[in-house]
Amino acid sequence: MKITYCFNFCFSYKNWVSKERGYNSLNSPCIKISKQYGEDVIKILKEAKILNNELKPKIQDNKLLIPVIDVEKSLAIIKGVADIDFCNDTFEEYKFKTKKLNRIIKGISSYTIIGDIAIINYKKDIELLERAAKEIVKINPKIKSVYAKIDTEGEYRVPKLILLYGEKRTITRHKENGLIFYVDIEKTYFNPKLGGEHNRIASLVKENETVLDMFSGVGGFTLNIIKRNKVNVLGVDLNPYAISLASLNYMINKKIFKGDAVFMRANALFLQDIIKNKFDRIIMNHPTGSINFLNVACNLANEKANIHLYTILENKNLKLNDIKDKLKESCDKKYEINQPRRVLEYSPKYSIFEININF
Ligand SMILES: C[S@@+](CC[C@H](N)C(=O)[O-])C[C@H]1O[C@@H](n2cnc3c(N)ncnc32)[C@H](O)[C@@H]1O
Repeated sequence: MKITYCFNFCFSYKNWVSKERGYNSLNSPCIKISKQYGEDVIKILKEAKILNNELKPKIQDNKLLIPVIDVEKSLAIIKGVADIDFCNDTFEEYKFKTKKLNRIIKGISSYTIIGDIAIINYKKDIELLERAAKEIVKINPKIKSVYAKIDTEGEYRVPKLILLYGEKRTITRHKENGLIFYVDIEKTYFNPKLGGEHNRIASLVKENETVLDMFSGVGGFTLNIIKRNKVNVLGVDLNPYAISLASLNYMINKKIFKGDAVFMRANALFLQDIIKNKFDRIIMNHPTGSINFLNVACNLANEKANIHLYTILENKNLKLNDIKDKLKESCDKKYEINQPRRVLEYSPKYSIFEININF
């Protein structure tokens, strides 16, 4: 009785608070249980290190939805404790540390942590940025360097950075879903907010599928997929630094993989000239350019393949005309385009959406 009351009150209060503060919503795999078991189940998931503690649980149709990073493990652990269902839903992000920083330094609303490096979005006021950097290190003592990101540049989608505080080092070791990723924040693209999406796509992969990760970066999707599934994945990227780090990340996590992966440096535009295989699943995570590669993906797709296309759309107007036109002119297979799913904020007006195209 006491627990139920607390959940009703606490969650509606938290939901109200987050709306007031305009928090981000992100997609995540989740488990659905009866509210009365909420506190116990969260405790168990936390201890097993499979609770996604960056996102807030929520109540829906009298059930509690808890975001997790490993659905299979959660189902196995909770089975005896409560009736449990698998789900996928949108959750609000916790931003306690940012909130704290915002209270101390007006004008700095958010920052990103990759391994032991923090990155703040650039503002013209360098003195303000340097003060914010010192506060970030106070709040997160494990942070060794703080950079400001001026912009994201070029085909490799890498950030232009200036050092604000600490060691002049851009290589770091980041943990995601039980995997270790070495990242060079200056030479390779990496977004720690994609951890939930990497895991969600990995949870959709079926046994013996062949998967193409067309824009692999340092291996986020590929390595999460082979950690969960006995499948073969080909990871491709144009950026040689990304491919070197993806191969290193493969090596250091090798012991926990069920499947296997190969990384190849190549321009995805020419993949159909190099590869004779067809794939059951193709991941196209290059939001600013992916639609220009739809013809290649169509040629490399097996019958009944799934394409996960990541692209930028206006939040309020999910216009799919460009995608439909591209497919019409370059793909003569039968396909279905599913409703876009919002994955990440891109700007106040635009977000990155995932669109699942089924053949
Ligand atoms: C958004 S990042 C990918 C992030 C990665 N999938 C992850 O989850 O961390 C886009 C990637 O596309 C790569 N890229 C850009 N143009 C390319 C091309 N023509 N062929 C292959 N890769 C390309 C960039 O180097 C970059 O690593």
